[in-house]
Amino acid sequence: MDKLLIQGGRPLQGEVTISGAKNAALPILCAALLTADAVELDNVPALRDIGTTLSLLERMGVRTQRPGDEQVTLQADHIHSQEAPYELVKTMRASILVLGPLLARFGRARVSLPGGCAIGQRPVDQHIKGLAAMGASIHIEHGFVVAEAPRLRGANILTDMVTVTGTENLLMAATLAEGRTVLENAACEPEVVDLANMLIAMGARIEGHGTDRIVIDGVGQLHGARHHIVPDRIEAGTFLCAVAATGGDITLRRAAPDTLGAVLDKLRDTGLDITTGPDWIRARMHRRPQATGFRTSEYPGFPTDMQAQLMALNTLAEGTAVITENIFENRFMHVQELCRMGADIEIDGHTAVVKGGEQLLGATVMATDLRASASLVIAGLAAQGQTTVERIYHLDRGYERMERKLQALGADIQRIQ
Ligand code: EPU
Repeated sequence: MDKLLIQGGRPLQGEVTISGAKNAALPILCAALLTADAVELDNVPALRDIGTTLSLLERMGVRTQRPGDEQVTLQADHIHSQEAPYELVKTMRASILVLGPLLARFGRARVSLPGGCAIGQRPVDQHIKGLAAMGASIHIEHGFVVAEAPRLRGANILTDMVTVTGTENLLMAATLAEGRTVLENAACEPEVVDLANMLIAMGARIEGHGTDRIVIDGVGQLHGARHHIVPDRIEAGTFLCAVAATGGDITLRRAAPDTLGAVLDKLRDTGLDITTGPDWIRARMHRRPQATGFRTSEYPGFPTDMQAQLMALNTLAEGTAVITENIFENRFMHVQELCRMGADIEIDGHTAVVKGGEQLLGATVMATDLRASASLVIAGLAAQGQTTVERIYHLDRGYERMERKLQALGADIQRIQ
């Protein structure tokens, strides 16, 4: 298994290009199942989760090509299986995103039920409830969600909580349903908006995306389209936390600052000097960070996917930060590892109290999930001495060539096998 070796203490300097958003690309790849025509995607990040999704779609009969590094073409004209098997779903929960498109276009789907995962239980009851409201007969059988519907019918669906992939599944299903679907309490995340824009390019009739009420008028069929995936706001936020922790001066290219409001606000509170243009962000840090507490929430609030990284920064800050995780019940697994590097963090339920210290000390630490891994890399870059981050396959699921991007910014970081 690969590891990262980091010699900490170097400020970051230079420019880095932000990749396309993993969490937009995953549902958009699955949306290719909604049409027999070719779908051409650009700015697709080279990530393990993207490879897993392509394998899943290929098994169903989708033809895929990679004409360029960031381009993927998909064509679902000969689908011979509507099944997502356990061995793929267990490695990537987002596989559940094939459920809505398969059911809408082929009238049936058999998708392995994702189990709990490191950050929480993560049930999919809202996906199931919404599809049932659209007329699907849906039940759990031998660990699979088995769904059937000759044709889905539009419905008014109010989810019990805001769910990102739940909204995406129901949005995709509704595009081919008969009549109007109204999704209330819908997720407003930029990745949901990107999916809606892709579906509109495919001929779907959607309004209200980006708000908590999305209205979809079903159509008989969708057609092919080309689409450019939005920039990854979490990758951008991760690099910003890194420079705030190490000091330095970096510019992010091909970024989307308008999707990062809450993150930029909090980072400015830590003392990071941020300027932005339409597709770039420059960040300079020449002092010790100030402690900055926050509470995670749905977009446009502070994202749970940035909680671990901003916590790592707070371990080095002047003062005490109170951090509350409101989305997932078990997303503090990086805390123990950060404490092994000398951080002072106490957890009480969903709240972590971080007392900032003068420095962290390099150590061998273990990544437990994607964003936890990113927080350990940030801590390692800022720490005194050498840090080894083990089990970085988690990192490779969601960050494209992270060590190479950091090397280009002057970090002393190497991948070893
Ligand atoms: N929930 C339910 N029932 C459902 C659906 C969700 O109880 O049917 C609960 C979840 O357990 C959680 C909350 O609702 O407590 C919100 O979960 P959500 O469904 O929004 O999460 P998700 O769609 O499974 C996506 C991202 C995550 C990100 C969350 C929150 C993708 C592929 N994944 O997950 O990304 O943390 O939204 O913003 O889009 C990551 O990239 O590291 C990552 C985990």
